[in-house]
Amino acid sequence: MRTFAIYNRKGGVGKTTTATNLAYILAEACKKRVLLIDADSQGNTSSISCQKSGGLAELLRNGPSSDLIVKTDIPGLDLLPAGSGLYDIDLECMIGKRRADFWILSRFRTLLEEDNEYDIAVIDCPPYPSLSCLNAITAADRLIVPTDSDAYSVTGIADLVEQIDSIRKAVPTVSVSGVLITRWGKTSAVDHDARKYLREDAPIHVFQTVIRRSDEKVKESTWVGQPVQEWSPWCYTARDYREWVAELLQREGIQYE
Ligand SMILES: Nc1ncnc2c1ncn2[C@@H]1O[C@H](COP(=O)(O)OP(=O)(O)OP(=O)(O)O)[C@@H](O)[C@H]1O
Ligand SMILES: [Mg+2]
Repeated sequence: MRTFAIYNRKGGVGKTTTATNLAYILAEACKKRVLLIDADSQGNTSSISCQKSGGLAELLRNGPSSDLIVKTDIPGLDLLPAGSGLYDIDLECMIGKRRADFWILSRFRTLLEEDNEYDIAVIDCPPYPSLSCLNAITAADRLIVPTDSDAYSVTGIADLVEQIDSIRKAVPTVSVSGVLITRWGKTSAVDHDARKYLREDAPIHVFQTVIRRSDEKVKESTWVGQPVQEWSPWCYTARDYREWVAELLQREGIQYE
């Protein structure tokens, strides 16, 4: 089960939008068996189902059990949901009521692999190093790093890569697949500059495909609890995510149907 974590410590850069659209395209268009894992106590990814309780928080609290995963309405796409329960667990670790175990999700992954239930897992990380975020990194093979085009996001990539290099000393099995530029504007000079800067200077691979902004359509999709790919398949953002998934699968050597 190839496992991608959508990771950036910067907030609001399109992690959740990337995770839900990647998972949807893999299930719907590529016919993969996909597990989408919400590792963020905000529970935004879990909006594609109605459940925000149990799920990953329950896994981190009590260990693996068969009823943690919920089906979604999308054929081939299951969800390990999350909600504020993850926040409670972080607090318990902070005040010493709970010992932090960074490998629970990784062990759950091994169990799922033994059952051959899924082809691919996609994990949506929070923008802070919570217990769930560190569990996501130890469970993942590859990190995908979405970034916005503002200076803070773009210039932060070098630091982020250093941080990931440090993590890799403890978790050598995880590596970066690439940086994905999101919320890009074709008519914005500053967005062109940011893309050029990243392609020339980023110390890691930058995906060729950029994800254009579709403000109204993406916003609407959050209200109906659907990936924009499902809500508005022909808007710029949805089209770009399809192109990017093809690029990602080719880069990762995964067959694209
Ligand atoms: N391509 C896009 N076009 C227009 N709006 C977008 C696009 N991608 C993301 N957004 C919007 O930008 C905001 C941030 O996106 P998203 O929630 O995916 O980021 P995030 O990195 O997961 O945030 P957080 O760090 O809070 O988890 C949301 O309001 C989302 O709807
Ligand atoms: Mg998010």
